Amino acid sequence: MALQQTLVLCKPDAVSRGLVGEIVRRLEARGYLIVAMKLMQLDGERARKHYGEHAGKPFFNGLVEFITSGPLVALAVEGEDVVEGVRQMMGATNPLQAAPGTIRADFAQQIGRNLVHGSDSADSARRELDIFFEAKEFVSRKHDLNRWLVE
Ligand code: RTP
Ligand code: MG
Repeated sequence: MALQQTLVLCKPDAVSRGLVGEIVRRLEARGYLIVAMKLMQLDGERARKHYGEHAGKPFFNGLVEFITSGPLVALAVEGEDVVEGVRQMMGATNPLQAAPGTIRADFAQQIGRNLVHGSDSADSARRELDIFFEAKEFVSRKHDLNRWLVE
């Protein structure tokens, strides 16, 4: 196990549909800690940087248009193996292939409106957290509950 941080985005569809609370509730209920959080609207430059790995793909322009179309909520989330844990909680990219009980299966219908982003590796997490947050925006939190969460 490793203590990690990951970037979670409640995308503009999640904000507009009033699902931010549900997503945050699930992260907290699993025992992960929020160490930074903000409501913001991305400009095209930052969106293209964040999704740079997808530049040139057929869905790229639509993805950038969507992610910049309204406010989103960015969170830095901390916990043991949280990168993998959050990906599991989100479910597969296409909500139709996501396992029941995951955020995307429970609340989304289509791949282009799949509500949440989570970094796909510890390296991606560091890169992406740098895009969304300055060092001073992080708070340090005690993992008091860890005695009930990890052996
Ligand atoms: P995300 O980065 O948003 O957490 O999603 P992901 O890792 O599960 O999926 P990724 O492959 O990184 O794709 C990023 C986002 O692009 C949109 N997408 N559309 N139409 C398509 O074929 C397609 N493929 C990907 C999705 O909104 C996906 O979340
Ligand atoms: Mg991705």
